[in-house]
Amino acid sequence: MANARELALQTLTDILVNQAYSNHALNDKIEKNDLTVQDKNFMAELVYGTLQNEQLLNFYAAPFFKGKVKAWVRILIQMTLYQMLFLDGVPEHAAVSEAVAIAKKRGGQFHGKLVNAILREMTRSPLASLDTIEDETQRLAIETSHPLWLIKLWSKQFGQEKTQQMARANNERVKMAIRVNAVRGTREELKQRLQAEGVECKEGYLSEDALIVLKGNPLKTQTFKQGWFYVQDEASMLVARALKPKHHARVLDTCSAPGGKTTHIAEMMRQTGKVYAHDIYEHKLKLIEENVKRLGLTNVVTSLQDATKLNECYDKESFDAILVDAPCSGLGILRRHPEIKLTKKPSDLDEIVKIQENILEAVAPLVKVQGTLVYSTCTVNRKENDKRVEWFLNKHPEFELDQTLVSRLPEVLAAQTKNGMVQLFPGDYQTDGFFIACLKRKA
Ligand SMILES: C[S@@+](CC[C@H](N)C(=O)[O-])C[C@H]1O[C@@H](n2cnc3c(N)ncnc32)[C@H](O)[C@@H]1O
Repeated sequence: MANARELALQTLTDILVNQAYSNHALNDKIEKNDLTVQDKNFMAELVYGTLQNEQLLNFYAAPFFKGKVKAWVRILIQMTLYQMLFLDGVPEHAAVSEAVAIAKKRGGQFHGKLVNAILREMTRSPLASLDTIEDETQRLAIETSHPLWLIKLWSKQFGQEKTQQMARANNERVKMAIRVNAVRGTREELKQRLQAEGVECKEGYLSEDALIVLKGNPLKTQTFKQGWFYVQDEASMLVARALKPKHHARVLDTCSAPGGKTTHIAEMMRQTGKVYAHDIYEHKLKLIEENVKRLGLTNVVTSLQDATKLNECYDKESFDAILVDAPCSGLGILRRHPEIKLTKKPSDLDEIVKIQENILEAVAPLVKVQGTLVYSTCTVNRKENDKRVEWFLNKHPEFELDQTLVSRLPEVLAAQTKNGMVQLFPGDYQTDGFFIACLKRKA
C-alpha cells in the first residue's frame, strides 16, 4: 500500500516546482496508486491545505531553516507544519516521525537528521506571531496566503471587508456540485438514483439545476456513466440560465472546453437547434466531445477555432445567442486551484484583457439583431469584468445591457445584479467567484 504523505509530498513538489495543476497532479497520483478512500481524502487534505496556506507556513517555517535547503525538504516541512497546526486528528509526534522517515527514504541519513532537527526545534520554540506584521494589508496577505498585489487590488476595487471575506473563503474546503442533465430527467430523480448507489446529496444553494454531494463519489456510479449529470460549480451553472437559449436556436460558444456551459445550453434546448462549440486547444476539444457523448446530446458541433478569428468563419448576424466564457485570470477559483495564488503575476492580468477584447470584437458582428451576447469569467477583477463590458459598449453602441438578466437569476442575487451584470464573490453562496454580463443587440 502506498504512503499517503509520501505521495502528497510528490504531488506538492510537482505543483510547486514543476508548475503542474493541482487537480491534475493529485488525480494522477491517486489513479496510479493503490489507496484507501481515507488515504485519498488525507492526501487531498494535505495537498490543498499546504497549498492554500503556503505563505503562512513559510512565514512560520523560514526562521528555522539555517542556510539553503532543497525544495522538497522545504515542502516536506511545510506539509508537516500544516498537519501540526491545522489537523486536529493528527498527533504531532506522528506527523514528525513520518516526515523524518520520508526524508530518510528520499534523501538518506543526512536529510533524515536535518528534517528531524528542524521539526524538533519547531515543536520546542514558539512560532513567529502575525501581530509583528504592522501593516494590515500585508498581515492579511500572509495570514490567508494571498499575494500582496492581489490583496491590494481587491481592497481598491471592492473594499477591505469584502477582500477579507474573499481571502478567508478561498482557504475553505469545497464540496462537489453537480448539474442535472435535464434531457435525462429531473434533479429529484437524479438525487434518488444517486442515493440508490450510495451517494448522498442535497439541493444546491443557488442553482435550480444543482445538487451538492455530501457523501460518496458520484463519479464512480452508473448514474454518471449514463450521463445523468455534469460536475460544475453552481455559479458557472447560472451562465446558461442567463443566456436562456430558445429551442431551435443557433448558438455560438466561443471558448467552450471542457464543455460545461455548452452542454448545459444544449440540454436547455432539449436536443433542438445547434450549439457551435469552439476552443483553441485540440486536446481540450476532445473533452467537450467526451462530455457531449456521455450526456447523450445530439445538438452540439465542435471544432478547433481561435475565437479571435471567428468573424472569418461565420456570416454576420448568424447567431441568436453567443457565449464568450472568456479565458481569464481565474481569481474566482482560488479555492479549487490555490496554486494560482503562487503563480499569477499582475502582468498576466493585462495580457489576458487584450485577448478578451479581441474575442469580443471578433464575435460582435455575428450576433443577430435582437440576439443575445453573454460575457462571463471566473474571475474577480473589474478590469476583466464590468470594465471590459463598459469598453465594449463604448465601441459598440448597437449593443445594450439586458436589464432583464435579474429575472433569470436566483432571487438572492437580485440586489447584486445591476444593469444586466452580476459579480459573485467566492464563498458568498459556497460558490466560486464569477462574473456574468448579458447584452442585447438592438440594431
Ligand atoms: C473559462 S475556460 C472555458 C470553460 C467552458 N466554457 C466551460 O464551461 O466548461 C476558457 C477556455 O478558453 C479557451 N481559450 C483560450 N484562448 C482561446 C482563444 N483565443 N480561442 C478559443 N478558445 C480559447 C481555453 O482553452 C479554455 O478552455
